[in-house]
Amino acid sequence: MAIDPAELRKVMGCFATGVTVITTRDQNGKPYGLTANAVTSLSLTPPLLLICVDRKAETFPHFFDSKLFVLNILAAHQEAISRRFATTGGDKFTGLDFHLGRLDTPILDGTLGHVECRIIETLEGGDHVIHIGQVEHAEAEEKRPLLFFRGKYRHLADS
Ligand SMILES: Cc1cc2nc3c(=O)[nH]c(=O)nc-3n(C[C@H](O)[C@H](O)[C@H](O)COP(=O)(O)O)c2cc1C
Repeated sequence: MAIDPAELRKVMGCFATGVTVITTRDQNGKPYGLTANAVTSLSLTPPLLLICVDRKAETFPHFFDSKLFVLNILAAHQEAISRRFATTGGDKFTGLDFHLGRLDTPILDGTLGHVECRIIETLEGGDHVIHIGQVEHAEAEEKRPLLFFRGKYRHLADS
């Protein structure tokens, strides 16, 4: 018997993760983005990572426009940014500090780190698609991460 989606969400919510905002742009340079934790490092040689994007997300078509994305890894103080990018509609970038990276794709300021990627393959994944990104550039800073566990934002307890 197929598992109930709400039950699966509850079980997978026990898998603690960091929180990212994946940004992209359309052909005219308009920025888009969504909060995501279904992301993973895939390969070091060649350098690859993958992201999973809901087909229903407004941002969904824009990954196919530019075939580019940036994985922005949120710092502990950036919960409001996560909430903003987890809400559909409106211009999510209004009043937000960001700059364009090497691929002319938005990089959020104040994060823990970011990875700039070129999409080299897209796979079917049920109600999501899996974009495999070739890493063009990556950097990180010494900051504390924002975490997500059992449906709530969390912070590291250790120093
Ligand atoms: C912690 C967290 C993790 C999420 N992870 C993903 C994810 O990996 N992929 C995805 O497509 N949506 C994910 N979402 C949901 C999207 O952020 C949400 O559907 C958002 O409204 C999409 O924005 P858009 O419709 O403007 O593109 C996540 C939300 C939260 C709060």
